[in-house]
Amino acid sequence: MTNVPDTMRAVVLTGHGDLDKLVYHEDWPTPQPGPGEALIKVHACGMNNTDVNTRSGWYSKAVTDATTGGAYDTVDEDDPTWGAAPLTFPRIQGADVAGTVVAVGTGADASLIGKRVLVDTWLRDWDDPMNLNKTGYYGSECDGGYADYTKVDQRNIHPIDCDLNHAELATFATSWSTAEQMLNRASVGEGDTVLITGASGGVGSALIQLANRRGAKTIAMASEAKHAGVQEAGPAAMLGRAPDDLKAALNNAIGSDTVTVVADVVGGDYYPILIDALARGGRYVCSGAIAGPMVELDLRTLYLRDLNFFGSTVLPPGVFADLVRYIERGEVKPMLAESYPLKEFHTGQQAFIDKTHVGNIVVTMD
Ligand SMILES: NC(=O)c1ccc[n+]([C@@H]2O[C@H](COP(=O)([O-])OP(=O)(O)OC[C@H]3O[C@@H](n4cnc5c(N)ncnc54)[C@H](OP(=O)(O)O)[C@@H]3O)[C@@H](O)[C@H]2O)c1
Repeated sequence: MTNVPDTMRAVVLTGHGDLDKLVYHEDWPTPQPGPGEALIKVHACGMNNTDVNTRSGWYSKAVTDATTGGAYDTVDEDDPTWGAAPLTFPRIQGADVAGTVVAVGTGADASLIGKRVLVDTWLRDWDDPMNLNKTGYYGSECDGGYADYTKVDQRNIHPIDCDLNHAELATFATSWSTAEQMLNRASVGEGDTVLITGASGGVGSALIQLANRRGAKTIAMASEAKHAGVQEAGPAAMLGRAPDDLKAALNNAIGSDTVTVVADVVGGDYYPILIDALARGGRYVCSGAIAGPMVELDLRTLYLRDLNFFGSTVLPPGVFADLVRYIERGEVKPMLAESYPLKEFHTGQQAFIDKTHVGNIVVTMD
């Protein structure tokens, strides 16, 4: 491979635990693209809670607390990943790669070389691509992008043509594709009023723009200190993180005390109040539970009000390509909060965990 060094910089996860389980190396072996794979020079890679949750073991059913970013001593080693399977170490995390293809393996399309690309974060069985059970997450079930180079099946690679810089491009993959699929699952469209929790975060700020794009009216819930930043995403109205009287706050903001859709990534103690804000036949869609996975549900609200509940994680093929088109057409704009050089990964990861930012945090390699 021309001009590709044998070793590279990488942040390597060595086990479940605290941030010290992530170790920075300058002499990690550069991956070699196998048959049908492409080698990508990573320019920037966005941070995600999936990495944090996997490292800390939060996905294990034995853990019932909110996400803290720190290690949990109750983690069951048999189910500590998003897919409830053990993780193998060492592992390079990082799913949200913006890079350039620099080499391809046998049988892969050589015309990809030199192209600026994003990576669809869902690894598939390409003989059975619609089977969402046969999937893995990039940076979890294989090495990802917190490194100078990464390799992936060429069918996960999406060339992109736009003016955004590398760090901006690295904000999109996980949070935006997750947000788009949440809206797909809940069939959000014109006429919907969508209440969005965690709206200052990666998924939440993407939900605002993507739901607006569909003609829905968006109501963003976020800490007051972040409201000026969240405004950049263009919600129709903004509420605090957990208003005491949600119905009154909604009435004040949109002239109705109910919404047709709740798009939730927070969960936790506030959950029953959110559910109670759904109009008859309303739709609740969830892809995260950062404030805690164990919630209280009054089943009478669910059935007497004819509600619909949707979970959302694995993307069917096609969703990522849709997102790439929205970016290329300038229909959505990145919410880049901060970027950190790879060498300062731990500082960036701590900032990501502290959550005083709005939008996304990325690491840069160039
Ligand atoms: N299923 C999937 O495929 C998928 C994909 C991506 C993310 N997720 C999950 O979705 C959730 C949100 O992800 P994200 O990337 O948008 O997160 P993020 O960027 O870290 O933002 C989360 C936001 O939630 C708000 N929040 C409310 N209560 C909180 C609490 N108790 N602790 C911490 N934050 C709280 C915070 O905003 P305020 O301070 O403004 O309230 C924070 O900015 C995470 O649980 C993540 O694991 C799932």
